[in-house]
Order: sequence, then C-alpha cells, then structure tokens
Amino acid sequence: MERFEPMVAIDVDTKQAALKLFDELANDTDHTPIVKIGMELYYAFGPGIVREAKQRGFKIFLDLKLYDIPNTVKRAMTAIGKMGVSFVTTHAAGGSEMLQAAKTGLAEGAKAAGCPMPKLLAITELTSIDDRILHEEQHVDFSLIEAVQNYAQLSEKNGLDGVVCSAQEVKAIREVTGPDFLCVTPGIRPNLQVHDDQKRVVTPQQARELGSNGIVVGRPITLAEDPVSAYQTIRQAFMEGEN
Ligand code: C5P
Repeated sequence: MERFEPMVAIDVDTKQAALKLFDELANDTDHTPIVKIGMELYYAFGPGIVREAKQRGFKIFLDLKLYDIPNTVKRAMTAIGKMGVSFVTTHAAGGSEMLQAAKTGLAEGAKAAGCPMPKLLAITELTSIDDRILHEEQHVDFSLIEAVQNYAQLSEKNGLDGVVCSAQEVKAIREVTGPDFLCVTPGIRPNLQVHDDQKRVVTPQQARELGSNGIVVGRPITLAEDPVSAYQTIRQAFMEGEN
C-alpha cells in the first residue's frame, strides 16, 4: 500500500510563523515532510508561500478545496498545475463534470510547466457536517457514511486519486473503491487526551492500522516545543508502526 510521509498542516496566521516552521522542519535532513498549505495561508500570502516551501525542498499539499463551475475550476487548476505541488483538493460535490475539468486543468498546467502531475484528492463531506445538517439543511436522504461512499465512488470514477476523510471512514470507502484509491486522513493525535476542536481523533499508529495512505497533522507538530522531534515520533508511528 502506498504510504506518504506525514503531511504537516501549517495553519498559522503570519508569514513569519510559517517561515519559522519551514526552517525548523527543514532541519530534519533525514526526512522530507510534506507541508500542507491551506486557504488561510494561501489567501494571505499568495503563491509566494508555496515558493518559499519549495525552496526548502518540501513536497507541498495545496489544500484549497476548489468548488465552482467546471470551466472556472479547470482554469484555476491549470494555474495550480504549474506550481509544482504534489497534492491538490477539490470538492466531490461539484459533480462529475467539475471533477473531470479539475483533472484536465491540472494535467494541462503540469504539462505546460514540465511539472509532475499532482495527486488530485476530493473532499467528500466536511467533518463539520453531521447527519442533522445533511438531512435538515441539505435535504439529503442518505446517511453521512453513504454520502461519503457515494462521493468517493464518484471521485474515483472521474479519475481522481483519492479522498480526504476521517480515519474511521477508510474501511467503508475501501468497500466501494479500488485498492489504489488514496485515503488521506486528518484528525490525528499522538495523545488521544488532547484533541483540541477535533471531534474524533486517532493516533498515527491507529491511522496506519485503519489503512490511511497519509495523515494530516497540524497542532501536535506546529505547537510542539520541538516540532522536528514531534514530527519524527509521529512519522515513525505512522510509517513504521512503532510508538
Ligand atoms: O491541528 P490539526 O491536526 O487538528 O489540523 C488538521 C488539519 O487538517 C487542519 O488543516 C484542518 O483544516 C484539516 N482538516 C481537518 N478535517 C477535515 C479536513 C481537513 O482537520 N475533515
């Protein structure tokens, strides 16, 4: 099973704090973490923050969760494809036409810039959505897990590489998708007592056992006194199954 290095969510609100984390993580010369740049950082500091991360040798997960009409998503993905990032996200809720447009745009951009094709991951249901919101606000009759399975299948059918999902959803997703379909899972805590605002958390080792291909870890690394050592411990538990 393909397993990626832990993806470190750089959720900070100043460029200085982001660069400090990049510099600290770059000190680990044995491993190269994947850094996840999300909307907060990207909207504040633009593509320059991606270049800063690239210069330090990181692979980049650009988590911008694109969701718009197919043509707009295609054009935005073309721009992203030229940036040399490794993972990109879009919402499965945009439908098959939008998902295909996302992939086409990404491929065109990557080809034009001579960059490798990034892995394209879908957001299924946000983990902030629960059954009540699904039924009462979105008028969806299916259960949450059925909706997640449906979106995972839709994503796979339209050529996406995988989904971002909770580790607890991996098993259900694997029931309806092929063996190479990727499940990347946030909500990771080395110490289950400290879960911040995450509702359901698992340890890196549990994520490994549940079949995650990659884990997204933010605060347990970014707020640690020694982010490199926190990264290394989490990495070892996830990549090698040791605590
Ligand atoms: O700090 P923490 O480890 O909770 O950060 C998790 C990261 O994963 C954040 O960037 C958050 O936005 C992201 N994420 C999540 N749950 C999802 C999708 C993304 O926590 N369902």
